[in-house]
Amino acid sequence: TSDHLRHVDSMSILPSGAGRISKLNALILGDSLASEEDDLIFPSPSFSSQALVPSPQKYMEMYSRSIKDPAGFWSDIASDFYWKTRWGPQVYSENLDIRKGNIKIEWFKGGITNICYNCLDRHVESGNGDKVAFFWEGNEPGFDAMLTYSQLLSRVCQLANYLKDVGICKGDAVIIYLPMLMELPIAMLACSRIGAVHSVVFAGFSAESLAQRIMDCKPKVVITCNAVQRGSKIIYLKDIVDAALTESAENGVAVDVCLTYANELAMKKESTKWKEGRDIWWQDVVPNHPSACDIEWVDAEDPLFLLYTSGSTGKPKGVLHTTGGYMVYTATTFKYAFDYKPSDVYWCTADCGWITGHSYVTYGPLLNGATVVVFEGAPNYPNAGRCWEIVDKFKVSIFYTAPTLVRSLMREGDQHVKRYSRKSLRVLGSVGEPINPSAWRWFFNVVGDSRCPISDTWWQTETGGFLITPLPGAWPQKPGSATFPFFGVQPVIVDEKGVEIEGECSGYLCVKASWPGAFRTLYGDHERYETTYFSAFPGYYFSGDGCSRDKDGYHWLTGRVDDVINVSGHRIGTAEVESALVSHPQCAEAAVVGVEHEVKGQGIYAFVSLVEGVPYSEELRKSLITTVRNQIGAFAAPDKIHWAPGLPKTRSGKIMRRILRKIASRQLNELGDTSTLADPSVVDQLIALSDA
Ligand code: WTA
Repeated sequence: TSDHLRHVDSMSILPSGAGRISKLNALILGDSLASEEDDLIFPSPSFSSQALVPSPQKYMEMYSRSIKDPAGFWSDIASDFYWKTRWGPQVYSENLDIRKGNIKIEWFKGGITNICYNCLDRHVESGNGDKVAFFWEGNEPGFDAMLTYSQLLSRVCQLANYLKDVGICKGDAVIIYLPMLMELPIAMLACSRIGAVHSVVFAGFSAESLAQRIMDCKPKVVITCNAVQRGSKIIYLKDIVDAALTESAENGVAVDVCLTYANELAMKKESTKWKEGRDIWWQDVVPNHPSACDIEWVDAEDPLFLLYTSGSTGKPKGVLHTTGGYMVYTATTFKYAFDYKPSDVYWCTADCGWITGHSYVTYGPLLNGATVVVFEGAPNYPNAGRCWEIVDKFKVSIFYTAPTLVRSLMREGDQHVKRYSRKSLRVLGSVGEPINPSAWRWFFNVVGDSRCPISDTWWQTETGGFLITPLPGAWPQKPGSATFPFFGVQPVIVDEKGVEIEGECSGYLCVKASWPGAFRTLYGDHERYETTYFSAFPGYYFSGDGCSRDKDGYHWLTGRVDDVINVSGHRIGTAEVESALVSHPQCAEAAVVGVEHEVKGQGIYAFVSLVEGVPYSEELRKSLITTVRNQIGAFAAPDKIHWAPGLPKTRSGKIMRRILRKIASRQLNELGDTSTLADPSVVDQLIALSDA
C-alpha cells in the first residue's frame, strides 16, 4: 500500500485550507476542474444521465437538506417503508456529548415495524414474489440454486415457526454459526421476523471465540451445519460448535438446542458427532413447519442484532444495532452508493459473519427488493477466474468486494479476467480497508474496462452502513479516496486535542451528530461504549481511523490509529492476539503490531518473550501460531514471530509500540528517541534478532 501512504503523506504536508471551496464550487457550477488534476476520473455522461444522483449539484442539494433538516429528510425516506404505527413526534433524539450526560441515540422511536416484513412480505404483496431474491453459487462450479422472494419468504417462515416452537421469543438471542449457505441469511431473517436478536459468528472463528460469544449473550439456540468445503478444504463446523458448547456449559451457560443443517455435499450425516436431546437436524424439523408465520411487530428501537467486533483492548465487544434506523439507513445507503436499479444483479463477496454481510448481503439489498448472489466458495477456487465466471453466469451488474481480493487477483494477471466478458458490470465497490491507487486502477481499468465507477465505501461495524462513499453518478473520482460523506453524515477531522480542523488537513476522523444506522450500545456494557467511542474527543463519535482531506474536500482514509489491525479487511485487536499468545505455557510476554502486507493490507507481527530458560525453536514458533489459531481463528495467525529477550518499555512499564512498529517494518533509522526506555539496550537486542 506504499503508493497510497506516499500520497497521503504528500497531502498532509501541503498548506491547509487553500482552494477547497473554489474547487467544490467549480464542480457545483459544472466547470471542469483544472486539467492538471489528472487523477480525477469523471463518470461517463451516459452513466450520470441515468444515475439516481447525476451531479454534484444534486448531491449538494440533498446533502444540505439532510444536514439542515435531518428529521424531515429521514422521515420522508422512512415513509417508503411499512410501519404498522408511525413513529412519535420526535423523529430522533440524541446526545453524543459525554460532558452533557449519557450517550443516547434514538431514531423513529415509537414507530412499530418489522425488518423481515420490509425485506420480504412487502415485495411479495406488491407483486414481486417471482423475482429472484438469491442466486446461490456453491464452492464447486456447477453447484447452484436460487430462491424467489416468495420462496425465500416461505423458507424464512418455516424456520421462524420452528424457533417459536422451541421457545424463542421476542428479545431472545440466537447464535448463528454458518458458512455462506442460503440458510445463513434465512436464519437472520427468521430471527428478525419473530423479534429474536441474532448474533452471527463468522464460521472462521475458533471454538474458544465462539464459546466466549455464547457466554456473553447466552442464546437458547445455536444454528450451524455439520461441515463445509471451502476451496479444497473441508471444515468440520459441528466439531467446533460441540467444543464451544461443552466449554460454555462448563461455565454455566447451557444451550438448549443446536439446530444443525446437514450439508451433505461436504459431509455425510452419519459421520457427524451427535448429542441426543440437544442436537437436531434442520432438515428433520424445519420443512415440516408451516410456510406462513405471523410477524412480531417491534419498536424501531428494539434490538435487531448483536455483532461482536474487536477493539484495541480487552475482549470482543457486542455491537448492538436496533431495528428502525438500521433498516432505513442500510436500504438508503445501498440504493444511492451503488446507484441501484430494480434490474440490477448484485454480488457482494463478504461473508454474513461480518457487518458487510449483514448490511449489504442481507438487509440493504433485500429491503430494496434486489437480486443478490450468495457465494459459498473461495474467490480463487478452482482458479483465479472464478469471480468473473460468476459475474458472467448471473449477469452481475454491481460487484462489491475488498481491496485484499483485488490485490490478490491482480497478482495472478489480467488473463484470468479478460477471458470473461464482464459486460454486465455497471458499478464496482470496495470496502474493508483503504484501497491503494494501483489496486484501484487495476480494478477500474481491467475488471471494469474503464467503464464502471468504483464506490469506495468507508464505514464500520459500529456505523451500520456507509458514512463516506462516492455516489457513482455524481462525483469525479480520485483513485484511493472514499470521497464525500453520505446524506446526513457530518465527518470532522480533529487534532490530538480534539479541535476540529478545517480545509486541507489530516488528523483523527470523528463524526458530529448521529445518523439512523449508528449502533446504540455495546451489549451489556454501555459504559464501555461511552468510554471507547465518545470520550477521546468529547462531543464526537471517534472512529479509530486517521483521515486526511485534500484541497478539493475529498477524504482519504489512512488506517487505524489505535491498536486494531486490519488483516484482509478483518478487524483484529492486538490485545486479543497477545492474550492468546501469553496463554501458551512457554510464552512470558507478547506484543503485537501490524505491518504493511502486499496482499492482506496488514500482516500480524508478534514479538514474543519466552519463559526463562526455554530455548527458541521452530517447533515452538509453530506451536505459538497454533495457539492463536485455536483461540481466535486461522485468520488471526501471526505472519511473523520475532523472538524478544526483552520488550521496549517506559520506566512505568508501558510497552512502546511505536518502536516495535519501526523494528517490524525495518525502518531502523526512524526509531526516534529511545532514551526514555527503562532499558534502551533491548532495542539493539531486538534488531539483532530481526531475522532469527
Ligand atoms: C477500515 C467493515 C478505508 C477502517 C465495514 C474501519 C476502511 C474498519 C474502509 C472497520 C474503506 C473499512 N477505506 N478503510 N473503504 N472500509 N475500513 O468494523 O479502518 O470490520 O475502521 O467494518 O475497516 O472494520 P469493520
